[in-house]
Amino acid sequence: MCGIVGYVGKKSVVGILLDGLEQLEYRGYDSAGVAIKTEDAINVYKAEGKLGNLRDVLTAHLSEVSSSTVGIGHIRWATHGAPSVINAHPHTCNCGNLVIVHNGIIENYKELKIELEAMGCKFRSQTDTESVAHLIAAIYDKEKDLTKAVHIATQKIQGAYALCIMHNDFPKKIVATKRNAPLVIGVGDGEYYIASDVPAFIKHTKNAVYLQDNQVATITNDSFKIEDENGKVIEPKVEVLPWEPVALSKMGYKHFMLKEIHEQPDIIRNILVGKIKTSDSPIVLNEVNLTRETLKNLNRIQIIACGTSLHAALIGKYIIEDFCNIPVDVEASSEYIYRKTVTDENTLVIGVSQSGETADTLTAIKQSKARGSHILIITNRPDSAMAREADSLLSVNAGIEVSVAATKSYMAQLTSFYLLAIYMAEIKGSKSAESLKELKAEMLLLPQKLEQILTQKQQIQACARKYANTRDFIYIARGINYPTALEGALKLKEISYINATGYPAGELKHGPIAMLDETMPVLSILMNGSVYEKLLSNSEEAKARNARMIALTNSNNPKLNDLFDDIIRVPDVVELLSPLIAIVPLQLIAYYIAEFLGKDVDQPRNLAKSVTVE
Ligand code: F6R
Repeated sequence: MCGIVGYVGKKSVVGILLDGLEQLEYRGYDSAGVAIKTEDAINVYKAEGKLGNLRDVLTAHLSEVSSSTVGIGHIRWATHGAPSVINAHPHTCNCGNLVIVHNGIIENYKELKIELEAMGCKFRSQTDTESVAHLIAAIYDKEKDLTKAVHIATQKIQGAYALCIMHNDFPKKIVATKRNAPLVIGVGDGEYYIASDVPAFIKHTKNAVYLQDNQVATITNDSFKIEDENGKVIEPKVEVLPWEPVALSKMGYKHFMLKEIHEQPDIIRNILVGKIKTSDSPIVLNEVNLTRETLKNLNRIQIIACGTSLHAALIGKYIIEDFCNIPVDVEASSEYIYRKTVTDENTLVIGVSQSGETADTLTAIKQSKARGSHILIITNRPDSAMAREADSLLSVNAGIEVSVAATKSYMAQLTSFYLLAIYMAEIKGSKSAESLKELKAEMLLLPQKLEQILTQKQQIQACARKYANTRDFIYIARGINYPTALEGALKLKEISYINATGYPAGELKHGPIAMLDETMPVLSILMNGSVYEKLLSNSEEAKARNARMIALTNSNNPKLNDLFDDIIRVPDVVELLSPLIAIVPLQLIAYYIAEFLGKDVDQPRNLAKSVTVE
């Protein structure tokens, strides 16, 4: 879970590598480094901490590398070895002639290390990556062909990797390869970019080739060649990328997270266009490749996801069971893959992932596919590894999400689940046409309601600040908003580091109530509907233990003024759609608390946006 970049061309490489790494900071940000080809050597520069530290190092050495036009770079999220200069990439062989950057995990690095040490290699870092540098260098010393050496080395290494390799014998060459980790080559005019993800070069070129597993690319300033794992040259498929560079700017907002929260009304609008034409017409979901017959006969659905996507999946379960009468199980991918799961060809397996890269979810999906299930993927990245496994692909079209804390992608995943559930219910005839019509009409009103919430952000900010110095926070809800409580709590803990927990309100008295006193804020997601009265009682129980009470509500019940210290009001909405409304103030509360505390909102400590390790 790191970001890698490379460039071969005619422009000065330093700025290109640094800018590319900046766009990949979402993948990790605990240390960074570059290797740059100079006239007679490959110079390596590294720094611990955020990318700014590497910028400072390079500024101090600019005269050494300003005219160089070939280089590779890396931004790290540590897996093997602490974040430090020694462990930062690029890693080199002992003579320093070969340098590599790596994203992924080399599973057999210990065995390789023993072999390589026996051959005289001296290891300097605690990383798994260094073994690959020594291995390729040792093979290259015999073969004198860098591409061939990479082919041979990758047959010996196990695990997941994207690698870029340079050798001092070749002033303008980078060799790149990958297995179960992303790598894309940007094709410019007399220049090539290599990166873990498109944002690293989108401002330079929109033409790109996605490298496939086990392919090896040899890139020079005026050519590139791709070979399959047997060394057979294959015709590269150049795609024109749909991304716009402007999507990666903060557009005047202080943080990407705040910008992304504000994008949510338009994201819902964009998703609904063409799918809900009018509330009278059936949902159009051409992306679902299941026959009507198969959909009708489905006996089970499993949804697999991690983190915020898991919370979207829990709401997906609620609505699919309600609308379609099909049993739905939701499971964290990391649990799913290490037990015997029962799936067959009558089970629909849905994988949910913003990035489409999350290792646990990808593995789970591959396992289910091997058992013959139809795989439906809900993702924000139609170009991702997970999307390539899909039999049906629901692309949520939220645009690139830069902030590590997921907001707009969650909204887009939820909206997609509603569309899917209504679509299936229409085919199965499992919910009355009248109720589905009302729901669709309500969905079309959602963007305006979200905009209304965003106009009240100052009040939400004021409320957030009152609670910024708390050490703990409890969110309670029932029914369809229980996952909203989990997601609200996750948002707060990941960006403010406050210990926040979401509970089904009925569980409070089975243990957690012991924690309540006058220091504990309890935020009750009190939306009108079937569980309103029950949640009101649970809130009273919390108040009776002197907790500091906050309501997030669409109710005008005057009783709330006595019960709650603070009330955040949201527009009225039918209960089934309330998670789409209730999450927005919770995202804002988390944002404003973290911002007030001066935290690194877009890049919280210890996290990375794409979790490509199990
Ligand atoms: C939290 C967050 C993470 C991700 C999780 C899964 O804000 O972003 O919990 O949701 O790492 O990532 P994806 O959705 O890319 O599979």
